[in-house]
Amino acid sequence: MTPPRKLHIKSYGCQMNVYDAQRMVDTLAPEGFVETASVDDADLVILNTCHIREKASEKVYSELGRLRVAKDVAAADGRKMNIVVAGCVAQAEGNEIIRRAPVVDVVVGPQSYHHLPQLLARAKAGGRALETEFPVADKFGFLPPPKPAAICARGISSFVTVQEGCDKFCTFCVVPYTRGSEVSRPVAKIVDDIKRLADNGVREITLIGQNVNAYHGDGPDGRPWPLGTLLRHLADIPGIERLRYSTSHPCDVEDTLIEAHRDLPQPMPFVHLPVQSGSDRILAAMNRKHTAEDYRRVIDRFRGARQDIAFTSDFIVGFPGESDEDFDATLALVTQIGYAGAYSFKYSSRPGTPAADMQETVPTAVMDERLVRLQELIDSQQSAFNTATIGATVDVLFERAARNPGQIVGRTAWLQPAHVMASDDIIGQVLPVRIESLERYSLLGSLVATPSPQPAQHAHSPTTGA
Ligand code: SAH
Ligand code: SF4
Ligand code: F3S
Repeated sequence: MTPPRKLHIKSYGCQMNVYDAQRMVDTLAPEGFVETASVDDADLVILNTCHIREKASEKVYSELGRLRVAKDVAAADGRKMNIVVAGCVAQAEGNEIIRRAPVVDVVVGPQSYHHLPQLLARAKAGGRALETEFPVADKFGFLPPPKPAAICARGISSFVTVQEGCDKFCTFCVVPYTRGSEVSRPVAKIVDDIKRLADNGVREITLIGQNVNAYHGDGPDGRPWPLGTLLRHLADIPGIERLRYSTSHPCDVEDTLIEAHRDLPQPMPFVHLPVQSGSDRILAAMNRKHTAEDYRRVIDRFRGARQDIAFTSDFIVGFPGESDEDFDATLALVTQIGYAGAYSFKYSSRPGTPAADMQETVPTAVMDERLVRLQELIDSQQSAFNTATIGATVDVLFERAARNPGQIVGRTAWLQPAHVMASDDIIGQVLPVRIESLERYSLLGSLVATPSPQPAQHAHSPTTGA
């Protein structure tokens, strides 16, 4: 028997890349590859890259510099190390990578991971390979069924891709170019994956897609199903206690989605709904296709369905032409909504996007100052949100033993880590916890009820003691 070959894979960027990394591991397992945590003993290194901001894509080249050294060391030991660049930088700058980085053997875009074995065979024969074919008709068709071993390793909570690509073309964003147009997986395939995950102990599923609420996969009735209908169907799968989805666009929030939050315990009351800016002028220049008022109305619809629902968002500061008044409108929107958290970024000009041609760039110092002010506001909202949980009894899905002996850690509906002293047989259960204190971002509490012997329980509504 030939010894297994070792694969080291490093992912940057969004959850889609994390998920794709696992797919690449699954695709290469039949070729005899097993994962290794270290670069040094790897026969194959895959960089799964992100192109969203300049900093993210520049990381690739510095990483490749380090890999050149590792490859030379391996060669001196008589081992051949192959280097693959995958992900969105591969898609966007494939030819440049081949030209700039001779250390790279294979460049493969996100639509072509099913060809990795053939591309590696070409590299083994001494060539270099580039595949960024686009678009591919059935980009989900190739996925091998997840193996139970791989699934177990993923624990209690797992991601499942339901949709990929984006047709929105926000003027700052590379995703429509790197991931292509929207494609949704059929309902039956998603159900199969999730049933298998549930059988292996997974209790929480996060459905992922670049524009997840534009989901319109074929349903068992032959019609396209919206995300809300999919959630309703998935809620019936035994063992699945919690459903989440990310990332949503404000323009695609259909009533079926709101109704799923209203009617079912499984869709968690925690929604990531990026808005990017609070200024209508900037939203228009970004081609977001909604106003700040439209966004507020979407938030109100969610809140009308479930009063404990909380939101997170993404913001860009310093988009070309953003004035002090525009930025003030963003601060005003954040103040009005009250977020549980948010990501904020300085605008980064991306080659090939319409915004890259916009002339009225905002000076870096202004962007820095705006970013600090926005982040201070968001941080204060986040800590107010977390502090409000103290004294409340909330459901926690327990995931694993914590670092401190005797402690088990899980997550609340709002993804806050929560620690209790308990035995590890509560792992995989949703149990009510009385929250007693907050340490940095972690909640500490104690179990309210004794754990039931059944592995799966139904979610309780949180009761606020405050
Ligand atoms: N599909 C999601 C997320 C896309 S990327 C959505 O529609 O919101 C994640 C975040 O990165 C975006 O929400 C945006 O805030 C940020 N981002 C994207 N392009 C950017 C750019 N050129 N400069 C700065 N931030 C950017
Ligand atoms: Fe990018 Fe906009 Fe699509 Fe989100 S909706 S992926 S920000 S183009
Ligand atoms: Fe980055 Fe591509 Fe995701 S650009 S954010 S890895 S879709």
